[in-house]
Amino acid sequence: MAKLLIIVVMKVRAATEGDAAACAAIYAPYVTDTAITFELEPPTIEEMAERIAAAERAHAWLVLEDLEDDGRVVGYAYGGPYKARAAYRWSCEVSIYLEAGRRRTGGGRQLYEALFARLAERGYRTAVAGMTLPNEASAGLHRALGFEPVGTYRRIGWKHGRWHDVAWMQRTLAEAADPPAEPR
Ligand SMILES: CC(C)(COP(=O)(O)OP(=O)(O)OC[C@H]1O[C@@H](n2cnc3c(N)ncnc32)[C@H](O)[C@@H]1OP(=O)(O)O)[C@@H](O)C(=O)NCCC(=O)NCCS
Repeated sequence: MAKLLIIVVMKVRAATEGDAAACAAIYAPYVTDTAITFELEPPTIEEMAERIAAAERAHAWLVLEDLEDDGRVVGYAYGGPYKARAAYRWSCEVSIYLEAGRRRTGGGRQLYEALFARLAERGYRTAVAGMTLPNEASAGLHRALGFEPVGTYRRIGWKHGRWHDVAWMQRTLAEAADPPAEPR
């Protein structure tokens, strides 16, 4: 049987606060309808703009544009601090969201590869990601991008009337000489 080849043209770029409305719209259904995120109230556009600005200052926030749809923002990925204690400062927690229904067209990989390159360039050494179980797409993407399993917190979050487990994974962003230079 002939295989249908679908080529989706997408571009990754650094986010600005002007992308807040698009990012908030992508994220909201994951907040209201799923336990993929443990937030309970979708952030406002202003709150999203603050998150973008904070990530851009210290880590990175990237958006994915669909070039066949006038460059509309259809996904985003960002890094943030893993934990506040000083010795953790070379590690970041990463997250990624594509608009619902846009799956398996390479956008996740494109966003994450660019994000990890940017975080490595800024001096970060390790990325960690937590995913509420089950989430085959997230586990598959993280595995495909070289993340290794760390462990699973059982019954760690309560949302939509039940407990949820969260699996953690990690990957090296950059190998470099020690002691590590300050992230910049
Ligand atoms: C997770 C998510 C970002 C993946 O994005 P995507 O654009 O579909 O991923 P890609 O098409 O780039 O896939 C890259 C690789 O990831 C893996 N993968 C992606 N979706 C998968 C799935 N449903 N099952 C198994 N593996 C999957 C595959 O190895 C895939 O490579 P392949 O298509 O060549 O086999 C997307 O599904 C999403 O936004 N999900 C909802 C939000 C979410 O769960 N975010 C993560 C929170 S922890």
